[in-house]
Amino acid sequence: MSANLRELISAERIATRVAELGRQIRADHPDETIVVIAVLKGSFLFLADLARAIPGDVRIEFLGVASYHGGTSSSGAVQITQDLRANIEGQACLIVEDIVDTGLTMDYLLRTLAVRGPKSVRIATLLDKPSNREIDVPVDYVGFTIPDEFVVGYGLDLGELYRNLPYVAVYVP
Ligand code: IMP
Ligand code: MG
Repeated sequence: MSANLRELISAERIATRVAELGRQIRADHPDETIVVIAVLKGSFLFLADLARAIPGDVRIEFLGVASYHGGTSSSGAVQITQDLRANIEGQACLIVEDIVDTGLTMDYLLRTLAVRGPKSVRIATLLDKPSNREIDVPVDYVGFTIPDEFVVGYGLDLGELYRNLPYVAVYVP
């Protein structure tokens, strides 16, 4: 491990929690096809594991979002860089994010998707940093609640590095 990384959540804990979330998500959507909307890039590993943990019918869609960061904090300006290909009207949707920090990105996504007439929209995030919240967002499924520290790994990056770590680590500058 790099000197700058301190393991926070092991691969084993992630796997256990993701399995629980998958069962819970299906229990909340009995008999529905769930349109899983993965927010790129950070959610790609969480998506891959979570999608396999949800029994029954699931569709996978991708949404690209850029939230501009000055280093390790979000500026709040959000832009869709790759829109959904699918029509979500009347569909049960599940937004899958890596982390909800200020909540600005998720608030923007919710408002953007709501006008398209989905049957429902729920939110799953691997990590929640509630101490930094600026806008209240209704997060339905949280993998882990973490303190206000900058984390990398299991999809999360710093300058596009560390996404491939199988665990979540605090980045210590
Ligand atoms: P928010 O809009 O402030 O809620 O932040 C949303 C985005 O900021 C997340 O989807 C991440 O891409 C990024 N982000 C926030 N905190 C962290 C972190 O600790 N590590 C890596 N990325 C982060
Ligand atoms: Mg993200």
